Amino acid sequence: MANPANKIRREFASVFGRAPDFVARAPGRVEFIGNHTDYNGGTVLGAAIDRTVTVAIAARTDQRRRFFSQLGGKIVSLTVEKKPKRQTGARSWLNYPLGVLAALPRFQLKVPAGFDYYVSSDLPLGAGLSSSAALELASALAFLALNGEQPPRETVVKVGRYAENHFVGVPCGILDQGVSGFGRKDRLVWIDCRGPKFATVPLPGGAQFWIFNTHTKHALVDGLYAARHKACMAAAKTLGVPLLADATLKQLEAAKAKLKAEAYRRARHVIEEIARVGKTVKALKRGDLMAVGQLLTASHRSSQSLFENSTPELDFLVDTLVATPNVYGARLTGGGFGGAVMALTSKKFNAAQARRVASAYEKRFGEKPDVLHTRTGDGAALIG
Ligand code: GLA
Repeated sequence: MANPANKIRREFASVFGRAPDFVARAPGRVEFIGNHTDYNGGTVLGAAIDRTVTVAIAARTDQRRRFFSQLGGKIVSLTVEKKPKRQTGARSWLNYPLGVLAALPRFQLKVPAGFDYYVSSDLPLGAGLSSSAALELASALAFLALNGEQPPRETVVKVGRYAENHFVGVPCGILDQGVSGFGRKDRLVWIDCRGPKFATVPLPGGAQFWIFNTHTKHALVDGLYAARHKACMAAAKTLGVPLLADATLKQLEAAKAKLKAEAYRRARHVIEEIARVGKTVKALKRGDLMAVGQLLTASHRSSQSLFENSTPELDFLVDTLVATPNVYGARLTGGGFGGAVMALTSKKFNAAQARRVASAYEKRFGEKPDVLHTRTGDGAALIG
């Protein structure tokens, strides 16, 4: 098989006129189940997919950091700064690698000085598949390789999350970076987000993933995510626990009168969703894909009615998918408020069925969703 790093090596050379020193790659992810459980200290299951972000890098001896993205199509040249500055507009994507550079010292890791950096991706952007986490992890591995650093995988994952939380400014949990870092082909990544602790669970043979990306995104999505985060923390406080993962349903019911109806719904979703993750692990171990599918759909219903982060577009896809033969279950995947739906199907589910779902959606909303049949893939790694 051709070396997967060869293509980007050639592209790097055509832009920068020399060969890269290292090539790193990190996958996108689907959130399998565990919606908004991560920052509440709960558990979550995700799968790394076979779509990746790839970064090629070569050291420079001067004080310049030159970035090239296949999408932007031109070199952006920055001087080396101890505290990188946030970028805006067409340069906003640089906040991911710059955020990683800003995060490295927090983990006692050396920061590379000058370099040439090239990024390409076959992972759809903004599709709820965590292209940002993949970009952070591929960048982190490339920067670390330049300095000959080999921290544990868990540290690389934390560097990515730190960049996202403190430089990009999204208060996300560990799910996206954790799955991109610890993914393994034919397995799901299980994360106990409080530790965090990482493990993998085999995906029973015959299970297939189909992603339907609606291209819709609530205008206030970042604000809504942050608002949900805040509401969960406030509910935990009222319940007298550090995080919602520490509360039981019984405690929640006992405190119902003290909580606003909305806070109660948010907390109930999180507590029950964590329980669903546990049940899903058990069903996966039994190879019971029917039960797994039912749990996935139940997760969506809870996001829809209790956490209220679904949309009519996502609900329509879930409703249509679960009424289609060979579909075990379907749910929104990721933060919600738009984005994508994931369906878990048997091998018998085919492209014609997927097209029919897409056409029904088009009839209703006037636009076709992108359909992606993905496989599980391996986690972030240096590949050259
Ligand atoms: C986004 C965040 C994750 C997680 C999910 C919701 O994908 O980046 O950390 O909170 O939403 O489960």
